Amino acid sequence: MEMLTRRGFFWQSFEIYGGISGFFDYGPLGNVLRRKIEDIWRKHFVTMEKAVEIDTPTVCIEDVFVASGHVSHFTDVAIECEKCGKVFRADHYIKEVLGIEIDSSVETIGEIIESYDLKCECGGKFRLFHFNLMFSTKIGPGKGKRGYLRPETAQGIFIDFKRLLEFCRQKLPFGIAQIGRAYRNEISPRQGVIRLREFNQAELEYFVNPKDKFHPNFRKYEDVVVRLLDKRERLHELTLKKAVDEGVICHELMAYFIGKTREFLIEVGIDEGRLRFRQHRDDERAHYAIDCWDAEVLTSYGWIEVVGIADRTDYDLKKHAEHSGEDLRVFVQYEEPLKVKRRKIIPNMRKLGPAYRDKAKVISERLSEVEVDGEVEFVVVNVEGEEIEIPREFFEIKEVEEEIHGEKIFPHVIEPSFGLDRITYAVLEHCFDKDFVDGEERRVLRLRRWIAPIPVAVLPLLSREPFTSKAKIIAEMLRRDGIYTDYDDSGSIGRRYRRFDEIGTPFCITVDHQTFEDETVTVRDRDTTRQIRVKVDELSSVLRELLESERDITEFGEIFRD
Ligand code: ATP
Ligand code: GLY
Repeated sequence: MEMLTRRGFFWQSFEIYGGISGFFDYGPLGNVLRRKIEDIWRKHFVTMEKAVEIDTPTVCIEDVFVASGHVSHFTDVAIECEKCGKVFRADHYIKEVLGIEIDSSVETIGEIIESYDLKCECGGKFRLFHFNLMFSTKIGPGKGKRGYLRPETAQGIFIDFKRLLEFCRQKLPFGIAQIGRAYRNEISPRQGVIRLREFNQAELEYFVNPKDKFHPNFRKYEDVVVRLLDKRERLHELTLKKAVDEGVICHELMAYFIGKTREFLIEVGIDEGRLRFRQHRDDERAHYAIDCWDAEVLTSYGWIEVVGIADRTDYDLKKHAEHSGEDLRVFVQYEEPLKVKRRKIIPNMRKLGPAYRDKAKVISERLSEVEVDGEVEFVVVNVEGEEIEIPREFFEIKEVEEEIHGEKIFPHVIEPSFGLDRITYAVLEHCFDKDFVDGEERRVLRLRRWIAPIPVAVLPLLSREPFTSKAKIIAEMLRRDGIYTDYDDSGSIGRRYRRFDEIGTPFCITVDHQTFEDETVTVRDRDTTRQIRVKVDELSSVLRELLESERDITEFGEIFRD
């Protein structure tokens, strides 16, 4: 963290006022790094998934989270010392002090505090309470309207489902993505950038027919071997296909997104040896999920979750349909029409109109959707969240034979949810390395070439004319060719190489004496420190090739220094 702060990746927010935990600023390098990771996410989860991306407000009205269940369920259990007032997240505190992993119910925590006679370090007793993690706010002046900062980007997608369904031509499956800020008022966050109160999520909501939890491209990943820790803490190393066949992973679509997540994480620089997928225990799953696998990576903070892949079923759409009164179902066509006999309700508009006025049309529509087995005295319909009892005199019951072409269903949703900040941090840890160069220890960030914030630096061998002017001209040429390029002429060339190694710049270009003889420069590879000579007029295309691949520099020129 010292290096990352000094070099401009990130630092604590509000530093000059003493800072507060859970908020970090992205400096110039961290900001570019996160954006590059975000772009690669977009390539995998939007472009290649043929999904679409939307952008909805971070401030949401209360109704959204009442319906989604976040107002009542999005809580952690906190403990507060009655003497000194310190507050801790209960499950984290118990894990830290007693080393035991527990479910976070008030009952379990209460029992543990009692049986271990847990007290604060000041000797005070603990009081337990539920703490809702959403930041609340007020929209507008005066009494205003209660609002919350969104704790996940996903809800914006569910709210817009009807319009998005139309946009996606009413056909399942389809994916909707959103990248943006999310907010959680975490209790006592003490893990640097791992646990933030304002953070960046990238989420894909993949809507499917519940009968079709498959993916046409699963074949691409079926032979990939993954490390899976199931909910009973059994470790499996299996191909994804075998994991589905043996029931370790519940369905192919979940396995597909596990494979895809792994591919993405490796592409941005996560070390596969420090990656595993862990299934949530039954007592830790979010209120909306029936199954969830986290991608976890090993860091100096231990195993941390960077991605959650959840099967949210139709939970959210059903809740929003119920609370808003909107029909959020999708019409699914059968392969062959079905012929069925039905007892259908035929609304009597002549009676409904005068009795129910402006509600009559919706009531009639709802009545037409109702089927009955035999005779009934009334029927209950739901109009904009209100249950209305419609007496028998307002409709007839007829037996009809119908051809049914399909049905309306609530689709299920599989959600890979990525924490971009945790991924950015983990990439930095996994890429950080030390080695010896010329008998001296060197710190080097072995970032994948395509995500390095500063891909190229041009350095004059000596900090004087004509080296400096020539180096500036070459840097300008590379920038014109679309390659982000830094220029540095301060200090010895060796120190400058170390500086760029430390921030992960894959290639340093040096203008030396020979440049003025034959219009060539040296290109130095960060990882091997090897150098080749390249003609200035071929430099941009060579660098472009190198930056997009893992090809060795020696394929592009004569070795100048080994
Ligand atoms: P944790 O158990 O660590 O609190 P979570 O299970 O609450 O995380 P999810 O609700 O699954 O996390 O959120 C999806 C993703 O968003 C996580 O995988 C993580 O990468 C990221 N995330 C969640 N909370 C935070 C946070 N406070 N700071 C940074 N990233 C977060
Ligand atoms: N959308 C999943 C989560 O934020 O938990």
